[in-house]
Amino acid sequence: MILVTGGAGYIGTHAVLALMQSGHDVLVLDNLCNSTRSALDRVASLAGRRPRFVLGDIRNRALLDSVFAQFPIEAVMHFAGLKAVGESVREPLRYYDTNVGGSVNLCQAMAQAGVFRLVFSSSATVYGQSKKMPINEHCALGQPTNPYGQSKLMAEHVMHSVAESDPRWAIGLLRYFNPIGAHASGLLGEAPKSVPNNLLPYLLQVATGQRPSLPVYGTDYPTPDGTAVRDYIHVVDLAGAHLKALDYLMNHTGISVWNVGTGLGYSVLELVHAFEHVSKVKISLSFEPRRPGDIAQCWSDPTRARQQLDWVATRDLNCMLEDAWRWQCRNPEGYVLDTLELKIKLADKGHFYKSSAFKRAVGSALFR
Ligand SMILES: NC(=O)c1ccc[n+]([C@@H]2O[C@H](COP(=O)([O-])OP(=O)(O)OC[C@H]3O[C@@H](n4cnc5c(N)ncnc54)[C@H](O)[C@@H]3O)[C@@H](O)[C@H]2O)c1
Repeated sequence: MILVTGGAGYIGTHAVLALMQSGHDVLVLDNLCNSTRSALDRVASLAGRRPRFVLGDIRNRALLDSVFAQFPIEAVMHFAGLKAVGESVREPLRYYDTNVGGSVNLCQAMAQAGVFRLVFSSSATVYGQSKKMPINEHCALGQPTNPYGQSKLMAEHVMHSVAESDPRWAIGLLRYFNPIGAHASGLLGEAPKSVPNNLLPYLLQVATGQRPSLPVYGTDYPTPDGTAVRDYIHVVDLAGAHLKALDYLMNHTGISVWNVGTGLGYSVLELVHAFEHVSKVKISLSFEPRRPGDIAQCWSDPTRARQQLDWVATRDLNCMLEDAWRWQCRNPEGYVLDTLELKIKLADKGHFYKSSAFKRAVGSALFR
């Protein structure tokens, strides 16, 4: 059985589904601070069976000990964490407590239970303002400019030390670039509980008329069109990388690090235009100054994951945007409404979705 912390979240649900579809039994531990149980109902409907679920917090050591005592856990995928950069600046202690303290707690409980195989959700943010592009795993680690990034770097340091301290550990650090997209079924996707932090979830809410315009931060970066360049990775490809990493750790102890990206960079404007092409919805933009701490460009060299894990991203930007748009159209309020409720809501003249493009898109996505 694989323990998936944070398995009800955006990336976790896709990983849980991938694990179940490849025959694993899965136990999800999540405190639902940024997710809902119904996400796991969707996973169950796609997988044809239900993952086990424990409502709880990774900072609760007694709970972790009882989970390891109760279930035959062979390995852990550790997604549970907080990820909003701006919030981390306002509430740094909560971020260090969860992302660092929670990871320490988990490693302690694992060691006590004799479980030494761990795949950790890290981030390209640990490279800071890398001068070298594309970024490979030999690039120096940087100085993340916010507590979120620092907490990921600190958690990586913890895991390096843990792996050095005991040869039984097999730890894989996956450094994600920019996960976007959704499951092709339209049933799983990113459902921000508050104002979205990342570009695509925000853009999707603009496309559906839930927000008036998309702020583009910085138009004077040294990039071809002046907007920031990022490496976007489809969440289903990312979930696949976790399975490959888990397999690898069956035969390799110590610590391993892999970038997870496509190796291609797209600017904000390129992404917006690609989205407009896919959705046929015009996105209204507001051009804003650069945000402190944002970097001009960041894209991966994913060679190591290809060579060591036999993993490559297979879904291109159009596929990421099509899948994300399908998800958004079918679930404009995330997991809150099921499809039937949404149909009823759309039939009600008083519903608040104002954009006619959104109504057309939702209509075609729901009723075809
Ligand atoms: N989404 C990204 O852009 C991105 C990029 C790089 C790394 N990551 C990392 O990947 C992981 C998953 O990200 P996501 O996008 O799926 O985020 P998410 O917020 O959708 O999922 C995180 C899950 O962890 C749960 N959680 C949070 N704190 C917890 C706690 N103390 N105990 C138990 N459960 C807790 C939340 O309820 C949520 O279900 C995070 O660690 C994040 O830092 C995400």
